Amino acid sequence: MKTVLSGIRPTGNLHLGNYFGALSNFVSMQNEYNCFFFIADYHSLTTHPTPQNIQGNVRSVLAQYLAAGLDPEKATLYIQSDVPEVIELYLFLNMNAYVGELERCTSFKDKIRQQPQNVNAGLLTYPTLMAADILIHKADFVPVGKDQEQHLEMARTFGNRFNRMYNHEYFPEPQAFNFGKELVKIPALNGSGKMGKSEGEDSTIFLTDTPEVILKKVKRAVTDAGPTEPNQPVSEPVANLFQLMHVVSKPETLEFFREQYSTCQIRYGDLKKQLAEDMIAFVNPIRERIQEIASNEVYLNKVAQIGKEKAQESARKTIREVREIIGFKPF
Ligand code: TYM
Repeated sequence: MKTVLSGIRPTGNLHLGNYFGALSNFVSMQNEYNCFFFIADYHSLTTHPTPQNIQGNVRSVLAQYLAAGLDPEKATLYIQSDVPEVIELYLFLNMNAYVGELERCTSFKDKIRQQPQNVNAGLLTYPTLMAADILIHKADFVPVGKDQEQHLEMARTFGNRFNRMYNHEYFPEPQAFNFGKELVKIPALNGSGKMGKSEGEDSTIFLTDTPEVILKKVKRAVTDAGPTEPNQPVSEPVANLFQLMHVVSKPETLEFFREQYSTCQIRYGDLKKQLAEDMIAFVNPIRERIQEIASNEVYLNKVAQIGKEKAQESARKTIREVREIIGFKPF
Protein backbone atom coordinates (compact mmCIF):
# COMPACT_ATOMS: atom_id res chain seq x y z
CA MET A 1 0.00 0.00 0.00
CA LYS A 2 1.37 3.42 -0.96
CA THR A 3 1.97 6.00 1.75
CA VAL A 4 0.55 9.52 1.67
CA LEU A 5 1.60 12.33 3.99
CA SER A 6 0.66 15.95 4.41
CA GLY A 7 1.05 18.66 7.02
CA ILE A 8 -0.19 22.08 8.02
CA ARG A 9 1.49 24.65 10.27
CA PRO A 10 -0.64 25.56 13.29
CA THR A 11 -0.62 29.32 12.74
CA GLY A 12 -4.37 29.96 12.92
CA ASN A 13 -7.62 28.67 11.52
CA LEU A 14 -7.61 26.58 8.36
CA HIS A 15 -8.89 28.28 5.21
CA LEU A 16 -10.17 27.24 1.80
CA GLY A 17 -6.59 27.33 0.45
CA ASN A 18 -5.49 24.69 2.97
CA TYR A 19 -8.63 22.68 2.34
CA PHE A 20 -8.41 22.52 -1.43
CA GLY A 21 -4.60 22.56 -1.56
CA ALA A 22 -3.84 19.86 0.94
CA LEU A 23 -6.94 18.27 2.40
CA SER A 24 -9.86 17.66 0.09
CA ASN A 25 -8.39 14.88 -2.03
CA PHE A 26 -6.77 13.41 1.02
CA VAL A 27 -10.13 12.90 2.68
CA SER A 28 -11.19 10.57 -0.11
CA MET A 29 -7.91 8.64 -0.01
CA GLN A 30 -8.03 7.40 3.54
CA ASN A 31 -9.27 3.97 2.54
CA GLU A 32 -6.87 3.30 -0.26
CA TYR A 33 -3.57 4.58 1.13
CA ASN A 34 -1.55 4.44 4.28
CA CYS A 35 -2.22 8.05 5.28
CA PHE A 36 -0.34 10.31 7.67
CA PHE A 37 -1.61 13.76 8.46
CA PHE A 38 0.25 15.93 10.92
CA ILE A 39 0.32 19.33 12.58
CA ALA A 40 3.70 20.96 11.89
CA ASP A 41 4.28 22.63 15.24
CA TYR A 42 8.09 22.45 15.05
CA HIS A 43 7.83 24.39 11.79
CA SER A 44 5.76 27.10 13.43
CA LEU A 45 8.66 27.97 15.79
CA THR A 46 10.35 29.98 13.03
CA THR A 47 7.99 32.84 13.92
CA HIS A 48 8.50 32.52 17.71
CA PRO A 49 4.94 31.87 18.96
CA THR A 50 4.19 31.96 22.70
CA PRO A 51 3.55 28.64 24.54
CA GLN A 52 -0.15 29.56 24.84
CA ASN A 53 -0.32 30.27 21.14
CA ILE A 54 1.18 26.93 20.19
CA GLN A 55 -1.11 24.96 22.49
CA GLY A 56 -4.26 26.72 21.38
CA ASN A 57 -3.44 26.56 17.69
CA VAL A 58 -2.45 22.89 17.73
CA ARG A 59 -5.72 21.95 19.39
CA SER A 60 -7.82 24.02 17.05
CA VAL A 61 -6.07 22.66 13.94
CA LEU A 62 -6.64 19.13 15.24
CA ALA A 63 -10.36 19.85 15.65
CA GLN A 64 -10.46 21.42 12.18
CA TYR A 65 -8.72 18.45 10.57
CA LEU A 66 -11.31 16.14 12.08
CA ALA A 67 -14.20 18.41 11.13
CA ALA A 68 -12.92 18.52 7.55
CA GLY A 69 -13.30 14.75 7.33
CA LEU A 70 -10.09 13.08 8.47
CA ASP A 71 -10.91 9.81 10.16
CA PRO A 72 -8.50 8.90 12.98
CA GLU A 73 -9.53 5.24 12.64
CA LYS A 74 -8.22 5.18 9.10
CA ALA A 75 -5.53 7.89 8.84
CA THR A 76 -2.73 8.54 11.31
CA LEU A 77 -3.36 12.02 12.63
CA TYR A 78 -0.52 13.31 14.80
CA ILE A 79 1.36 16.27 16.18
CA GLN A 80 4.89 16.68 14.83
CA SER A 81 6.50 17.36 18.22
CA ASP A 82 5.12 14.04 19.50
CA VAL A 83 7.54 12.35 17.10
CA PRO A 84 11.02 13.70 17.94
CA GLU A 85 12.60 11.05 15.67
CA VAL A 86 11.91 13.52 12.89
CA ILE A 87 14.53 15.82 14.43
CA GLU A 88 17.18 13.14 14.23
CA LEU A 89 16.46 12.61 10.55
CA TYR A 90 16.50 16.41 10.09
CA LEU A 91 20.01 16.46 11.54
CA PHE A 92 21.19 13.66 9.25
CA LEU A 93 19.72 15.37 6.19
CA ASN A 94 21.21 18.73 7.20
CA MET A 95 24.69 17.21 6.99
CA ASN A 96 24.18 16.73 3.24
CA ALA A 97 22.11 19.83 2.49
CA TYR A 98 24.21 22.66 1.09
CA VAL A 99 23.86 26.23 2.30
CA GLY A 100 23.84 27.48 -1.30
CA GLU A 101 20.83 25.40 -2.32
CA LEU A 102 18.96 26.33 0.87
CA GLU A 103 19.66 30.03 0.29
CA ARG A 104 18.31 29.79 -3.25
CA CYS A 105 14.96 28.45 -2.04
CA THR A 106 12.16 30.89 -2.97
CA SER A 107 10.37 30.65 0.38
CA PHE A 108 13.62 31.55 2.19
CA LYS A 109 14.13 34.59 -0.04
CA ASP A 110 10.53 35.64 0.65
CA LYS A 111 11.06 35.33 4.40
CA ILE A 112 14.19 37.49 4.26
CA ARG A 113 12.04 40.19 2.69
CA GLN A 114 9.08 39.70 5.04
CA GLN A 115 10.92 39.40 8.36
CA PRO A 116 14.45 40.87 7.98
CA GLN A 117 14.71 41.18 11.76
CA ASN A 118 14.29 37.41 12.24
CA VAL A 119 16.22 35.47 9.60
CA ASN A 120 16.97 32.46 11.79
CA ALA A 121 18.73 29.21 10.89
CA GLY A 122 15.41 27.37 11.21
CA LEU A 123 14.12 29.35 8.23
CA LEU A 124 17.18 28.42 6.17
CA THR A 125 16.82 24.73 6.99
CA TYR A 126 13.01 24.68 6.75
CA PRO A 127 13.18 22.51 3.59
CA THR A 128 15.32 19.88 5.34
CA LEU A 129 12.84 19.66 8.23
CA MET A 130 10.04 19.31 5.70
CA ALA A 131 12.02 16.61 3.87
CA ALA A 132 12.49 14.80 7.20
CA ASP A 133 8.70 14.93 7.80
CA ILE A 134 8.11 13.27 4.46
CA LEU A 135 10.99 10.79 4.46
CA ILE A 136 10.47 9.63 8.04
CA HIS A 137 7.39 7.71 6.83
CA LYS A 138 8.91 7.02 3.38
CA ALA A 139 5.94 8.79 1.82
CA ASP A 140 5.17 8.23 -1.86
CA PHE A 141 2.64 11.04 -2.29
CA VAL A 142 2.35 14.44 -0.66
CA PRO A 143 -0.84 16.44 -1.19
CA VAL A 144 0.18 20.11 -1.19
CA GLY A 145 -0.68 23.40 -2.83
CA LYS A 146 1.40 24.97 -5.59
CA ASP A 147 3.41 27.03 -3.07
CA GLN A 148 5.05 23.85 -1.70
CA GLU A 149 6.25 22.50 -5.04
CA GLN A 150 9.84 23.60 -4.60
CA HIS A 151 10.02 22.14 -1.09
CA LEU A 152 8.89 18.80 -2.50
CA GLU A 153 11.57 18.98 -5.15
CA MET A 154 14.12 19.52 -2.39
CA ALA A 155 12.77 16.56 -0.40
CA ARG A 156 13.39 14.41 -3.49
CA THR A 157 16.91 15.84 -3.83
CA PHE A 158 17.76 15.13 -0.18
CA GLY A 159 16.29 11.61 -0.26
CA ASN A 160 18.09 10.74 -3.49
CA ARG A 161 21.33 12.21 -2.20
CA PHE A 162 21.10 10.03 0.89
CA ASN A 163 20.45 6.96 -1.27
CA ARG A 164 23.43 7.77 -3.50
CA MET A 165 25.77 8.59 -0.65
CA TYR A 166 25.17 5.28 1.08
CA ASN A 167 24.60 3.36 -2.13
CA HIS A 168 21.26 2.13 -0.86
CA GLU A 169 17.85 2.55 -2.55
CA TYR A 170 16.22 3.43 0.74
CA PHE A 171 13.96 6.47 0.40
CA PRO A 172 11.27 6.47 -2.31
CA GLU A 173 10.85 9.64 -4.38
CA PRO A 174 7.94 11.58 -2.89
CA GLN A 175 5.61 13.09 -5.48
CA ALA A 176 3.57 16.23 -4.87
CA PHE A 177 0.03 15.91 -6.06
CA ASN A 178 -3.49 17.19 -5.89
CA PHE A 179 -6.79 16.21 -7.43
CA GLY A 180 -6.16 16.31 -11.14
CA LYS A 181 -2.46 16.41 -11.94
CA GLU A 182 -1.96 20.10 -11.34
CA LEU A 183 -1.14 21.49 -7.94
CA VAL A 184 -3.65 24.18 -7.07
CA LYS A 185 -3.28 27.75 -5.93
CA ILE A 186 -6.52 28.93 -4.35
CA PRO A 187 -6.58 32.70 -4.91
CA ALA A 188 -7.25 35.43 -2.36
CA LEU A 189 -10.26 37.73 -2.67
CA ASN A 190 -8.14 40.86 -3.06
CA GLY A 191 -7.53 40.41 -6.77
CA SER A 192 -4.06 38.89 -6.62
CA GLY A 193 -2.00 36.45 -4.64
CA LYS A 194 -2.95 33.22 -2.95
CA MET A 195 -5.45 32.78 -0.18
CA GLY A 196 -3.73 32.78 3.19
CA LYS A 197 -3.03 34.97 6.15
CA SER A 198 -0.24 36.88 4.41
CA GLU A 199 -2.80 38.38 2.02
CA GLY A 200 -4.89 39.55 4.98
CA GLU A 201 -7.80 37.97 6.83
CA ASP A 202 -10.37 39.90 4.77
CA SER A 203 -9.19 38.15 1.61
CA THR A 204 -9.28 34.69 3.14
CA ILE A 205 -12.26 32.46 3.85
CA PHE A 206 -11.65 30.40 6.97
CA LEU A 207 -13.44 27.14 7.76
CA THR A 208 -14.63 28.88 10.94
CA ASP A 209 -16.21 31.89 9.16
CA THR A 210 -19.92 32.47 9.79
CA PRO A 211 -22.31 33.11 6.86
CA GLU A 212 -22.35 36.84 7.68
CA VAL A 213 -18.56 37.06 7.61
CA ILE A 214 -18.33 35.13 4.32
CA LEU A 215 -20.95 37.35 2.72
CA LYS A 216 -19.14 40.49 3.83
CA LYS A 217 -15.75 39.28 2.57
CA VAL A 218 -17.07 38.12 -0.80
CA LYS A 219 -19.04 41.35 -1.32
CA ARG A 220 -15.79 43.29 -0.95
CA ALA A 221 -13.86 41.04 -3.33
CA VAL A 222 -11.95 42.93 -6.01
CA THR A 223 -13.33 42.77 -9.59
CA ASP A 224 -12.86 45.03 -12.63
CA ALA A 225 -14.95 47.45 -14.73
CA GLY A 226 -16.61 44.56 -16.63
CA PRO A 227 -16.16 43.23 -20.18
CA THR A 228 -16.82 45.71 -22.99
CA GLU A 229 -16.65 43.33 -25.94
CA PRO A 230 -17.54 39.65 -26.43
CA ASN A 231 -14.96 37.02 -25.47
CA GLN A 232 -12.67 39.57 -23.88
CA PRO A 233 -9.79 37.96 -21.91
CA VAL A 234 -10.63 37.67 -18.20
CA SER A 235 -8.63 39.89 -15.81
CA GLU A 236 -6.84 38.34 -12.83
CA PRO A 237 -9.32 39.43 -10.11
CA VAL A 238 -12.29 38.04 -12.05
CA ALA A 239 -10.42 34.87 -13.05
CA ASN A 240 -9.77 34.38 -9.33
CA LEU A 241 -13.48 34.56 -8.53
CA PHE A 242 -14.16 32.04 -11.30
CA GLN A 243 -11.54 29.76 -9.79
CA LEU A 244 -13.13 29.99 -6.37
CA MET A 245 -16.44 29.20 -7.99
CA HIS A 246 -14.82 26.23 -9.69
CA VAL A 247 -14.01 24.68 -6.30
CA VAL A 248 -17.19 25.43 -4.34
CA SER A 249 -19.98 25.67 -6.94
CA LYS A 250 -21.67 23.29 -9.36
CA PRO A 251 -20.04 23.12 -12.83
CA GLU A 252 -23.20 24.52 -14.46
CA THR A 253 -23.10 27.56 -12.17
CA LEU A 254 -19.58 28.40 -13.25
CA GLU A 255 -20.52 27.72 -16.86
CA PHE A 256 -23.47 30.13 -16.59
CA PHE A 257 -21.34 33.01 -15.28
CA ARG A 258 -18.56 32.38 -17.81
CA GLU A 259 -21.15 32.55 -20.57
CA GLN A 260 -22.54 35.77 -19.11
CA TYR A 261 -19.02 37.15 -19.11
CA SER A 262 -18.30 36.26 -22.73
CA THR A 263 -21.56 37.84 -23.83
CA CYS A 264 -20.92 40.98 -21.71
CA GLN A 265 -24.07 40.43 -19.64
CA ILE A 266 -22.37 39.59 -16.40
CA ARG A 267 -23.27 41.44 -13.20
CA TYR A 268 -20.54 41.01 -10.65
CA GLY A 269 -23.03 41.56 -7.83
CA ASP A 270 -24.90 38.42 -8.93
CA LEU A 271 -21.68 36.48 -9.30
CA LYS A 272 -20.60 37.42 -5.79
CA LYS A 273 -24.00 36.61 -4.31
CA GLN A 274 -23.91 33.14 -5.83
CA LEU A 275 -20.26 32.58 -4.86
CA ALA A 276 -20.96 33.60 -1.25
CA GLU A 277 -23.99 31.30 -1.11
CA ASP A 278 -21.99 28.35 -2.39
CA MET A 279 -19.11 29.06 -0.03
CA ILE A 280 -21.52 29.25 2.90
CA ALA A 281 -23.12 25.94 1.89
CA PHE A 282 -19.66 24.42 1.78
CA VAL A 283 -18.19 25.92 4.97
CA ASN A 284 -21.24 25.81 7.26
CA PRO A 285 -21.37 22.07 7.98
CA ILE A 286 -17.61 22.04 8.61
CA ARG A 287 -17.85 25.07 10.92
CA GLU A 288 -20.60 23.39 12.92
CA ARG A 289 -18.56 20.22 13.27
CA ILE A 290 -15.53 22.27 14.37
CA GLN A 291 -17.56 23.77 17.21
CA GLU A 292 -18.76 20.37 18.30
CA ILE A 293 -15.36 18.66 18.15
CA ALA A 294 -13.34 21.54 19.64
CA SER A 295 -15.33 21.36 22.86
CA ASN A 296 -14.69 17.63 23.25
CA GLU A 297 -11.35 17.63 25.06
CA VAL A 298 -11.47 13.92 25.86
CA TYR A 299 -11.93 12.99 22.22
CA LEU A 300 -9.14 15.32 21.03
CA ASN A 301 -6.74 13.88 23.60
CA LYS A 302 -7.61 10.36 22.53
CA VAL A 303 -7.08 11.13 18.85
CA ALA A 304 -3.70 12.78 19.54
CA GLN A 305 -2.61 9.82 21.66
CA ILE A 306 -3.55 7.19 19.07
CA GLY A 307 -1.89 9.21 16.30
CA LYS A 308 1.26 9.65 18.35
CA GLU A 309 1.64 5.91 18.88
CA LYS A 310 1.08 5.02 15.23
CA ALA A 311 3.40 7.78 13.94
CA GLN A 312 6.13 6.90 16.45
CA GLU A 313 6.08 3.27 15.40
CA SER A 314 6.63 4.17 11.75
CA ALA A 315 9.25 6.86 12.56
CA ARG A 316 11.23 4.62 14.91
CA LYS A 317 11.50 1.92 12.28
CA THR A 318 12.91 4.42 9.75
CA ILE A 319 15.38 5.90 12.23
CA ARG A 320 16.58 2.43 13.22
CA GLU A 321 17.23 1.57 9.58
CA VAL A 322 18.78 4.94 8.74
CA ARG A 323 21.18 4.69 11.68
CA GLU A 324 22.27 1.31 10.41
CA ILE A 325 22.77 2.53 6.89
CA ILE A 326 24.85 5.48 8.14
CA GLY A 327 26.98 3.14 10.22
CA PHE A 328 25.76 3.76 13.77
CA LYS A 329 25.68 0.26 15.15
CA PRO A 330 25.10 -0.70 18.76
CA PHE A 331 28.24 -2.03 20.47
P1 TYM B 1 1.06 25.72 5.24
O1 TYM B 1 0.77 25.50 6.68
O2 TYM B 1 1.44 27.08 4.79
O3 TYM B 1 -0.16 25.24 4.38
C1 TYM B 1 -0.67 23.93 4.53
C2 TYM B 1 -1.06 23.36 3.18
O4 TYM B 1 -2.04 24.18 2.58
C3 TYM B 1 -1.61 24.53 1.27
N1 TYM B 1 -2.08 25.89 0.94
C4 TYM B 1 -2.66 26.21 -0.23
N2 TYM B 1 -2.94 25.47 -1.30
C5 TYM B 1 -3.55 26.09 -2.34
N3 TYM B 1 -3.90 27.39 -2.32
C6 TYM B 1 -3.63 28.18 -1.26
N4 TYM B 1 -4.00 29.44 -1.25
C7 TYM B 1 -2.97 27.59 -0.14
N5 TYM B 1 -2.57 28.05 1.07
C8 TYM B 1 -2.01 27.00 1.71
C9 TYM B 1 -0.09 24.48 1.30
O5 TYM B 1 0.46 24.28 0.03
C10 TYM B 1 0.13 23.28 2.21
O6 TYM B 1 0.04 22.10 1.46
N6 TYM B 1 5.62 23.73 4.91
C11 TYM B 1 4.21 23.43 4.94
C12 TYM B 1 3.80 22.50 6.07
C13 TYM B 1 4.58 21.24 6.08
C14 TYM B 1 4.39 20.14 5.19
C15 TYM B 1 5.38 19.19 5.57
C16 TYM B 1 3.51 19.87 4.15
C17 TYM B 1 5.60 20.95 6.92
N7 TYM B 1 6.07 19.72 6.62
C18 TYM B 1 5.49 17.96 4.90
C19 TYM B 1 3.64 18.64 3.48
C20 TYM B 1 4.63 17.71 3.87
C21 TYM B 1 3.45 24.73 5.09
O7 TYM B 1 3.98 25.71 5.56
O8 TYM B 1 2.16 24.66 4.75
